[in-house]
Amino acid sequence: MSGRLAGRRIAITGAAAGIGKATAKAFLAAGATLALLDRNVAGLSDLEGCAIGFDAGNPDSVRAAVETAATELGGLDGLVNAAGVFEVAPIGETTLDMWTRMISVNLTGPFLLCQAAIPYLKAARNATIVNLGSASALSPFPGLAAYGASKGGVATFTKVLAAELAPDIRVNLVCPGMTRTRMVSDWHPDEDELAKTAKRTYPLQRIAEPEEIAAAVLFLSSAESSFITGTTLVADGGRTFH
Ligand SMILES: NC(=O)c1ccc[n+]([C@@H]2O[C@H](COP(=O)([O-])OP(=O)(O)OC[C@H]3O[C@@H](n4cnc5c(N)ncnc54)[C@H](O)[C@@H]3O)[C@@H](O)[C@H]2O)c1
Repeated sequence: MSGRLAGRRIAITGAAAGIGKATAKAFLAAGATLALLDRNVAGLSDLEGCAIGFDAGNPDSVRAAVETAATELGGLDGLVNAAGVFEVAPIGETTLDMWTRMISVNLTGPFLLCQAAIPYLKAARNATIVNLGSASALSPFPGLAAYGASKGGVATFTKVLAAELAPDIRVNLVCPGMTRTRMVSDWHPDEDELAKTAKRTYPLQRIAEPEEIAAAVLFLSSAESSFITGTTLVADGGRTFH
């Protein structure tokens, strides 16, 4: 097997849709062997790999999923945390349920996944973790208090892990701007309006395709980024660079 990820055994959460699915496809094309983790198991059926149903917000479910992934793949060289949920509301209408859901899946989820995967990653060589943050945690966006807080937490969590796990495991963050997935189409159902907004607010004048974010995740999971840890790769069409 040849390719940028040849021989690498990698678990990807959120692989049933959007950025996680695009990442799984890119990783397969690069020669990786995958464990595909998602609460939507049916959405994993078009991907080659070990499909595992799990709930990122449930500690027992996360531990069991990581154990199954490592057993099925014979170890783990990498982890990508792409599972996530997104809800928008002004602070006064942000219910405790919404807050808890986003913190649980987007922040506690990566914590539990990393904690469960670290013993396997430490046993591997040149292991990597890539977490998905968000440009919305870098540049405050009204209505995203809970989501932005969860992603801001992931950003700090990623840096702490990078410091703690060096030199054994490299840990990095990818912060996408708006990307063409269900998460965004649910938020902006009118495609023409979305295109106009993107043209006005993004220097590159459009939103991202999931494959463009997957390319950033692949870079940070491959030997091409061998001297990079604790970094944030912002893939947001220039939206937050000022
Ligand atoms: N799409 C964007 O514009 C955008 C921008 C910035 C960051 N992100 C982040 O990128 C990641 C991927 O987002 P996306 O746009 O591909 O979203 P998506 O909604 O298309 O896919 C998310 C996936 O996560 C899975 N998932 C959700 N909750 C889960 C849970 N509790 N347990 C297990 N699986 C669960 C879903 O089933 C789905 O397959 C997320 O962390 C998101 O916050 C997305």
